Amino acid sequence: MLKEETLKVVINGQEVESSFGKTILECARDSGVDIPTLCFDSRVKATAACRLCSVNVKGRRLPVAACAQKMEPGMEITTDSSDLESMRKTILDLVVSENPTGECVRCEEIGPCELHTLTKRYGSKPGRFHGALSGEKSKDTNPFIFRDYSQCILCYRCTSVCGELEQAHAIVPAGRGFGSRIAAAFDSGLLDSSCTFCGQCIQTCPTGALMDRKMLGQAKASEVTKVKTVCPYCGTGCGLNLHVANNKVIGTTPDWDSPSGEGSLCVKGQFATDFVGHKDRLKTPLIRRNGVLTEATWDEAYDLIVEKFTQIKEESGPNAFTFWTSARATTESNYIMQKFARAVIGTNNVDNCSRT
Ligand code: SF4
Ligand code: SF4
Ligand code: FES
Repeated sequence: MLKEETLKVVINGQEVESSFGKTILECARDSGVDIPTLCFDSRVKATAACRLCSVNVKGRRLPVAACAQKMEPGMEITTDSSDLESMRKTILDLVVSENPTGECVRCEEIGPCELHTLTKRYGSKPGRFHGALSGEKSKDTNPFIFRDYSQCILCYRCTSVCGELEQAHAIVPAGRGFGSRIAAAFDSGLLDSSCTFCGQCIQTCPTGALMDRKMLGQAKASEVTKVKTVCPYCGTGCGLNLHVANNKVIGTTPDWDSPSGEGSLCVKGQFATDFVGHKDRLKTPLIRRNGVLTEATWDEAYDLIVEKFTQIKEESGPNAFTFWTSARATTESNYIMQKFARAVIGTNNVDNCSRT
């Protein structure tokens, strides 16, 4: 007997068990059936803007969007036919004719974008349809997000992710008809909006319309090695992939499998890992001599610390000290710091920035 919440449907002639509330797309993917998508991001509500995922349902006159249509008992679904494939190719021909790309910077420098992965698969090329082109490069000078809406296909993934997932509502669909576009309030730049620079709009965008500005012009995608790691900034420990080229960290993409962030990052994890190779980064201890910070050896630095700590403890007692540990240090280093405060200096004045 079927469990109460399950239902049976047929996909491409195969009987499949699914659950009430699931979409055709979810059920198909659960069963290993591939349906191409362009405007779909599983983390937010389907907008059904692109229709690339259209499938046939027995008894329905027209194809339905698999990403938005919920399963119903007894549905008989066809995901793959020459008519559907021809319709998908026409959709892609329309998209690329309206947004002729030439070279796609995203494909060249960051990795294959979803749109061009699909156009390659379907053999779609610009030029089949002629007419006015929409969208233009934004004049936004924010330091993090490059916005070129001449590449935008109005899939609305960025606005859904910004609003529903990040709750930032910094960018929204604006205008009507051919004037439809993605905009921040009053068509301002992102620095003047409620944008938190989480970078999620870049990550979901299936085209080269939104890109990490700092990554551009640094290397070809084929020269980049991705190094999976954990963000060094705070105790949340979000997973990252550092993009490394020519022995330099050139940018970051989220690790979608990370259990702590599940792909979400804050502005620091997303855009500020270039400190690793920054020219002002401290590489040796500095001791202030005659008012000027000068480079010193570790032995000189530790000798000075011992001398000053001993002097302060003798003159003012252990509670003259407060120790601040850091979420950017390892757990072991933090443990040693509190041990040093309590056991060596003799104070409980110890705290950590990730407590707040
Ligand atoms: S960076 Fe984040 S907050 Fe800013 S527009 Fe993109 S999704 Fe919205
Ligand atoms: S900017 Fe990218 S994610 Fe946003 S609507 Fe355009 S193509 Fe879609
Ligand atoms: S992916 Fe379903 S309509 Fe775009």
